[in-house]
Amino acid sequence: MKMRSFASFSCIAAACLLVACGNNATTDKPAGDSATIAPAAGAALPDANLFKDSMESKMTALYILKNKNNASVAITNYGARVVSLLVPDKNGTLTDVALGYDSIGKYIHQPETYFGAIVGRYGNRIAKGKFKLDGKEYKLATNNGANHLHGGLKGFGAHVWDAKKLNDSTLELTYLSQDQEEGYPGNLQAKVTYTLSGDSANSLKIDYEATTDKATVLNLTNHTYFNLNGQGSGTINNHLLFLNADRYTPVDSTLIPTGKLEPVAGTPFDFLQPAAVGSRIDANNEQLKFGKGYDHNFVLNANKGSGLNLAATVQGDQSGIFMEVLTMEPGIQFYGGNFMNGGNPLKGGKKDDHRTAFCLETQHYPDSPNEPSFPSTELKPGGKYKTSTEYRFTVKK
Ligand code: GLA
Repeated sequence: MKMRSFASFSCIAAACLLVACGNNATTDKPAGDSATIAPAAGAALPDANLFKDSMESKMTALYILKNKNNASVAITNYGARVVSLLVPDKNGTLTDVALGYDSIGKYIHQPETYFGAIVGRYGNRIAKGKFKLDGKEYKLATNNGANHLHGGLKGFGAHVWDAKKLNDSTLELTYLSQDQEEGYPGNLQAKVTYTLSGDSANSLKIDYEATTDKATVLNLTNHTYFNLNGQGSGTINNHLLFLNADRYTPVDSTLIPTGKLEPVAGTPFDFLQPAAVGSRIDANNEQLKFGKGYDHNFVLNANKGSGLNLAATVQGDQSGIFMEVLTMEPGIQFYGGNFMNGGNPLKGGKKDDHRTAFCLETQHYPDSPNEPSFPSTELKPGGKYKTSTEYRFTVKK
């Protein structure tokens, strides 16, 4: 499980990356001794020129973060989205583990609207698009049957954020969500900072912050669709998944939690021992029927102290890429790509076929504003929302 060093990426491959990065490319040279490790071909970053547009009186662009191991992430300020995430596989080949489109136009017009997005104000569902706060009822946009999903008709992933590259490996994005946007109270100032580091692992950390001028509810997450064998490279059902959760929140047929926390023991929801994602997916289980597969929130086991806690690990069966998800959040939505249907053209001419990606959305539980027993998602004026999630990549041979 030692991470293969990528320090000696060849001059040719490095040059390709720089060309692909367009204006946003850093000119960092790969660190290390280029004589010791053979050059590895691999996935390239998208063409930054195809991400230039103007919307909401702002310019969209593609920003590239790199670390000293030559791992890289491409992020657009349209929805603060992860477009590409390149990490080495067990052979040292750079592999793009994040599904995405190759141009801004596709992010705007294709039916799948959540690839890589920051989801807000509320990740996942709020029943019937209603909730009460301080005795007042708020009505939200309903965009998933009778329910509100992922912030509504035009959530945070469909707005242009202000971006500031702080250094080669850090990008800060800010967005002001106006009072009453999608029905939510309060002007909410949100900040998301992506940092790609490369010390003990290639790690993408996401720090979230927000303040409001009226009491509101908030549940930010990132909706990257991962395939650890490389985006568009077939089923994820053979990926090995561990979820650090003794319990989950079962749902009704519209995917709203019943309010109970049920044990996973003895069910297809038990991933306490790593298991292939698809090993029990066809089990005769009502919850799997409701979700059309896995589309459930897991209650993460109690934090051992403060800071980031291990929520999940996933291993690509072909690539050996091993991803650890660490978070401060109390829950994680495991979505197994059940609604994917091949209808969206991915980067490099790949397809988004059924269950060829998974999402691990760190979050508070769905419908918390209507479930007083769930951890609160309320943010008050004067308070500060602050949470972090980290995706760490190594390899297992
Ligand atoms: C979440 C939801 C799913 C689906 C996906 C996006 O994970 O729980 O039901 O909406 O996002 O397609």
